[in-house]
Amino acid sequence: MKLYASMLSCDLLNIESEIEALVETGIDGLHVDMMDGHFVRNIAFGIDHVRQICRATSLPVSVHMMVSNPASFIDAVAHEHVESIVVHYEIGSELPEVLRLIKETGIGVGIAINPTTEVSRIVDYVGSIDTVLIMGVHPGFGGQTMVPGTAERIGCVRSVCGSSMKIAVDGGVNPSTANLVKLSEADILVAGSYLFGGNSGNKVDSLKEKIETLCHGVSRER
Ligand code: DX5
Ligand code: ZN
Repeated sequence: MKLYASMLSCDLLNIESEIEALVETGIDGLHVDMMDGHFVRNIAFGIDHVRQICRATSLPVSVHMMVSNPASFIDAVAHEHVESIVVHYEIGSELPEVLRLIKETGIGVGIAINPTTEVSRIVDYVGSIDTVLIMGVHPGFGGQTMVPGTAERIGCVRSVCGSSMKIAVDGGVNPSTANLVKLSEADILVAGSYLFGGNSGNKVDSLKEKIETLCHGVSRER
């Protein structure tokens, strides 16, 4: 299992030092939430932020697009450190074309599914993607509580998509929900507010301790 840090909840005025601290912890990657205030009620990172974050680190970056028109942003974020671009199943009929455009860039392709979307809906896309991002919360804001039943959905995605699909869980990840998610054998945990909240003393040590708590008992090799 790997752990990615969702940058939405980091200290935005000091994002570069936040990234440097994360690198020191041995985090596996960064998760960057693009939000347009339309697909979701919030506004978060845009294409220039993604580019600058990529320039600041050699960590893999996964871009989670919560925008109404993802096709228009794909080329702009297709930076060499972008490991995957994840778009929502809920964008509707343009999904196949958007997946095709991402694939054309050579970057990994993922579909995110909201807690209210039936897992079986993604069956038609299994051959076109390499990651499924299971939303543990309704998208738009960090710091929410994981929706009950999220861990069970991991098992459903696994049976629909097979063993080679990467399954990531995003939203509401903290030590107790992480335990449920680990048992369900997700490949990637994404954590934001738990990692960045209430850090005191040495930032790197504090982050390391939280990473150890979240990942305790599972190998980070996969
Ligand atoms: C929610 C975002 C998540 C969020 C995770 O819409 O996609 O990436 O920032 O944050 P926490 O861990 O606070 O739920
Ligand atoms: Zn996200």
